[in-house]
Amino acid sequence: MSLGVTLIVDGVPRRADANATLAASLLAAGITAFRRDLGGHPRAPLCGMGTCFECRVTVDGVADVRACLEPVRDGMRIETGK
Ligand code: FES
Repeated sequence: MSLGVTLIVDGVPRRADANATLAASLLAAGITAFRRDLGGHPRAPLCGMGTCFECRVTVDGVADVRACLEPVRDGMRIETGK
């Protein structure tokens, strides 16, 4: 694993593998609540291949980005459902 990029996750800088998807990077950082459902319950990646939409986060101001399909980029800003 090469920690080659910095992500800003909910305002906190975190190093991540430059070759990983955003979902893998968030999970590796111990982040498991990617969003909240209508009842306020935390949701996390389920399928890992773009089908379930459970991994949606906000990336650089764009809502509902599927983290499992998104490659990481240095400096990207992610907002989760905490
Ligand atoms: S984990 Fe299912 S769409 Fe991302």
